[in-house]
Amino acid sequence: MRRTRAFGLTLMLSLAAGASAADAENGQALAWQHRCMTCHGPEGHSQDDRYPHLAGQKAAYIVDRLKYFKAETEHFNQMNGQARPLSIEDMEDLAAYFSAQR
Ligand code: HEC
Repeated sequence: MRRTRAFGLTLMLSLAAGASAADAENGQALAWQHRCMTCHGPEGHSQDDRYPHLAGQKAAYIVDRLKYFKAETEHFNQMNGQARPLSIEDMEDLAAYFSAQR
């Protein structure tokens, strides 16, 4: 009985954690795959005045910006094409990765 309850609790906790937890490791893989670093610099430390730093930026802000770019509200924004192939989950994982950089 006691064991069953402990198992149930563990299951509930892991479900709660897994439900919306963004995956920074997958975010890193996506950043390489989509070549975000070519403009935003290694780990999001921009080396060029034209490109903003992503390292240490707030995760929710990064997701918001990526959604905005994907919507193509601003024509000809360089980021529109970058955000186009990203799913919401990709955006959250990328945001988790960049926000975790110092
Ligand atoms: C070809 C160069 C280029 C690439 C590649 C690129 N970006 Fe950008 N990014 C920009 C530019 C330029 C801006 C500034 C646009 C603006 O704010 O209007 C920007 C802005 C952003 C912002 C908003 C930052 C802020 O402080 O408001 C985020 C978030 C972002 N990029 C994420 C990404 C991610 C994630 C990737 C990879 C999927 C990526 N970018 C790939 C050029 C690039």
